[in-house]
Amino acid sequence: MKKTITGLLFFLCTASVFSQELPLVPKPSSVVTQPGTLTLNSKTEIVYNDQVALQDVLFLNQFLSDNYNITLKTKKSKKNKNGIEFRLDKSFKGEAYALTINDRTVTIQGDTAGLFYGLQTLLQLMPLDESATVTLPQVTIKDEPRFKYRGAMLDAGRYFFTVEETKRFIDLMSYYKLNTFHWHLTEDGGWRIEIKKYPLLTQIGAWRRGTNINNSSDEFDRLPHGGFYSQKEIKDIVKYAAARNVNIIPEIDMPGHSLSALAAYPEYSCTGGPFKVLELWGIQSDIFCAGNEKTYTFIEDILDELITLFPSQVIHIGGDEAHKDRWKVCPKCKAKMVAENLKDVNELQSYFIHRLSTYLGSKGRRMLGWDEIMEGGLAPGAMVMGWRGEESGIKAANMEHEVVMTPNSSMYLDYYQGKSSSEPFNIGGDLPLEKVYNYEPLSPQIAPDKQKYIIGVQGNLWMEFIHTASKLDYMAFPRLLAVAEIGWSDAHKDYDDFIARVGGNLPHLDKEGVNFRIPEPLGLHDFESNTTHLTVLLTPPIKGSKIYYTINGEDPMLNGTLYTSGLQLNLTDKPVELKCIVRTKEGRVSNTYTASYSLKK
Ligand code: ACM
Ligand code: ZN
Repeated sequence: MKKTITGLLFFLCTASVFSQELPLVPKPSSVVTQPGTLTLNSKTEIVYNDQVALQDVLFLNQFLSDNYNITLKTKKSKKNKNGIEFRLDKSFKGEAYALTINDRTVTIQGDTAGLFYGLQTLLQLMPLDESATVTLPQVTIKDEPRFKYRGAMLDAGRYFFTVEETKRFIDLMSYYKLNTFHWHLTEDGGWRIEIKKYPLLTQIGAWRRGTNINNSSDEFDRLPHGGFYSQKEIKDIVKYAAARNVNIIPEIDMPGHSLSALAAYPEYSCTGGPFKVLELWGIQSDIFCAGNEKTYTFIEDILDELITLFPSQVIHIGGDEAHKDRWKVCPKCKAKMVAENLKDVNELQSYFIHRLSTYLGSKGRRMLGWDEIMEGGLAPGAMVMGWRGEESGIKAANMEHEVVMTPNSSMYLDYYQGKSSSEPFNIGGDLPLEKVYNYEPLSPQIAPDKQKYIIGVQGNLWMEFIHTASKLDYMAFPRLLAVAEIGWSDAHKDYDDFIARVGGNLPHLDKEGVNFRIPEPLGLHDFESNTTHLTVLLTPPIKGSKIYYTINGEDPMLNGTLYTSGLQLNLTDKPVELKCIVRTKEGRVSNTYTASYSLKK
């Protein structure tokens, strides 16, 4: 899009923004800063009034030890003379908290989750320089989330991430106050959860043999691949997440996306197989047979084990992209439709999903599914994850079903986040940070009295083309910060304010070694000028980062000039191509970003 001159004026205003804003993401409900600071010293103690707060106390001390090589004394006490206090206070609702820093003390108040989030806010205020004393701004923050569900999904089915990688992702989620980890554990391309009653699910279903074509590019990697989580590992991850206020919702995708299960147990398909764990991507015809009673027993046995591992009230059963061609011709499916008086395969899918919902209900759990579970009739009480645009989520909310909004157009973080020519190969789409940020889950098409059925938002990371933890970082961050902000902060949108806070916050991730996508320099836009002399004003997108540029077509990585202040361009008939890279304080370098400056015709 071409920007007008107002675009340039705005960037003048943001040039010094990093020093004015506290780099908090998501933005708290209320922040009042006072002049002055508080410096921690060797006499600073951490006090807490209740044993519940002890895990936060230990968390803070671990952070201080890792980052500044200091360990503070801790004490159970109600008095806080010169220290950091965690005050469990049940009068705070759910995840709400207050954080006050004055010239002598830090006080965090909240119930269990609130104390953890007050601590996360405090960590975001910690200085970046490890050699410096720990100096904090004086501030009063009162904060609570807008939505109760703030999620991120990892597709571990298509690509297996290790326990450590998964925990690190949970760490990063919780740092931004995301509280729900949707763990997509099964796919055509891999079954990742140990089920003791059906060992072949992981012995066969967890492994892709691959074609041994050593394709070094990310496109259609057909290399051998596999892995699964033992039940012991799953319990460990669930506990780890719970300590960070993250609930894990496991997903077993059914009746479609189930080829890995059918490769292990083909008797639960319509045709009997044989099948191979999928090596490429795409929607498969072979799905669970909904006409075979034994399929239901198999699935219920799996759910029985699943619910012993996951305390989550809500269990995700998938339900997306089930091609039903096999059902149309399968004698068992046809017989089931006759017996149950179902008029078509959509109603058969609805029957299948209703049975799962009833089964989960009988175990005290609740079913969540992708929006296709609405086809043929929605099971009573089912929660819906709206992904095919916004429409299905809107419809489900208007039908008084709880909905998590994750429209692919705004929340699919596997989509491109910049021009495809300068991005690593991805599945497609167009989803820059600003577009994610501007998503508003409460559509005006939802009746006012039904808006409460939208319980939150979620960013999804599908792994067709994400095969390393480093690329996962790249796709997730910083867009997951925008998801967190939508989920937590009020509905008011101000992208300039957001990107300034992101720019102040990303150095923390840089220091942690997170391979986030470095945003474009602020102010870099294609532009048509009325005058031949043009001053281009750029701002580094991250505090402490530097911009290097060329205007002669050369690679700014090799021959770039350090940008220091307004860049004077003399425009002729030929547009000027401004090419930039951004280098972070830790030395990471962005893609090359380009903008074209031309004279208005
Ligand atoms: C989906 O993207 N198939 C839920
Ligand atoms: Zn069948």
